[in-house]
Amino acid sequence: MSGTSAIEGLRHQQAALAAFGSFVLSENDLSRILHDAARVCANSLNVPYAKICQYREDHNDLLIVAGHGWRADIVGHLVSTADERSTQGRTFVTGEPVILEDIRTNNSFALPAFYAEHGVVSTADVLIKGKDRSWGVLEVDSPIRRMFDDYDIVFLTAFANVISEAVINSERTAQMNCAIEEMKALIAEKDTLLAERTAREFRVRELQVELLHVSRLNAMGQMTAAIAHELNQPLAAIANYVGAAKRTLDAPRAGSDVLVHAKGLIEKAQQQTLRAANVIRGLKDVIEKRECRRVADDVNVTVRDSLALVLFGASYADIDVKLELDSSVPPVLIDRVQIQQILINLIRNGVEAMSQSDERTLTLTTVVGEPGFAEVSVRDTGVGLPPDVSERLFQPFNTSKSGGMGLGLMICQTLVEANGGRIWRLNDIQVGTGFRFCLPLAPRLSQGA
Ligand SMILES: Nc1ncnc2c1ncn2[C@@H]1O[C@H](COP(=O)(O)OP(=O)(O)OP(=O)(O)O)[C@@H](O)[C@H]1O
Ligand SMILES: [Mg+2]
Repeated sequence: MSGTSAIEGLRHQQAALAAFGSFVLSENDLSRILHDAARVCANSLNVPYAKICQYREDHNDLLIVAGHGWRADIVGHLVSTADERSTQGRTFVTGEPVILEDIRTNNSFALPAFYAEHGVVSTADVLIKGKDRSWGVLEVDSPIRRMFDDYDIVFLTAFANVISEAVINSERTAQMNCAIEEMKALIAEKDTLLAERTAREFRVRELQVELLHVSRLNAMGQMTAAIAHELNQPLAAIANYVGAAKRTLDAPRAGSDVLVHAKGLIEKAQQQTLRAANVIRGLKDVIEKRECRRVADDVNVTVRDSLALVLFGASYADIDVKLELDSSVPPVLIDRVQIQQILINLIRNGVEAMSQSDERTLTLTTVVGEPGFAEVSVRDTGVGLPPDVSERLFQPFNTSKSGGMGLGLMICQTLVEANGGRIWRLNDIQVGTGFRFCLPLAPRLSQGA
């Protein structure tokens, strides 16, 4: 080869290398890069065949992953040993180029049959490096006897280095994609967990509302005798008034005074109807199933209403009720029905504890408490807390009563806390039991505007 054509050849190789370098930068698909590398390499060195072998760790061999000029059943199918028995293996393990000028005179390597089938005479292999270790081998093959010289090897090595960059890049991209996929999976998992948690929390809230409702119904159920009594009074009075009015109107002496008298009786019957309606309205609020609704409210009114619901007029005779309600307590921010439920539970417990006591005094107190809070207490002169119950106070299913559910105090605690307060047992009591709870004061509306 003349000097000019040699320089021309080198220029041609340089241009091919540069073009391939920019192709690698723009292409993400490693398989396309490798196939193009084999084609450009073969063309640049004027040989019909080139191939790229990749080391496979799990098989410990070198698989032909890309090639140019070969029969279709070779690329992607055939392998070489990854040791010094093959030319590719030798390059792979030593890192050094292997050049065979004439394979027909070679005794060092076991060459596969397809070399002869393609008429290959000369070969040259160079290493393709990976990130931390060898990745594979680039080989060119010629059917015309040829001594691949230093220039060829420098070119092949430069080419293999560009392939190596592409390989490292692709491995990095694959790792990154893997990490992205893993992250996506984690995010999806987190979303699922969050959704499950939200659903569980929702269910717990539903169950809480359900439990409170059931417990209110239960409390009301146990108070049916008192409720019936409370309704019976106005109903009996209505019947009396209406009967008397009828008799008055039936009387033989007629006159305007009779009509006035009958009208007075009917008006009284009407007042009793309103009284009965009031009792029913009070019960309806307690019985309805509902969510927490906190508004500024008068705690003293709530205490009186709750007491009326448990004791009604009739039972006052048995129990001496002391109301020590401080009228200077500012409005509290509460859900009135929930606070009523707390008070009903505490009052019922107190009344039940005093069933066998000689002295039956129930004291309900309201005071201004710690800054920002009002305090309510319920005290009785009953038997006192049994020690085993006392140890697990506010725990569910903790009862000493045969018909008790052991939920009252736990519900009291849940509801007080839902209203921003706290409940505790009074310790400084000689006879009976006492509970106190605090409730947050309603924020004051700013004066003027
Ligand atoms: N004022 C009290 N005096 C004496 N013991 C009380 C008093 N309040 C509560 N206890 C004890 O605490 C236990 C638990 O009370 P809690 O109100 O939680 O459940 P309960 O009254 O047994 O049943 P229920 O769920 O119907 O209210 C009672 O069984 C009782 O032994
Ligand atoms: Mg109870």
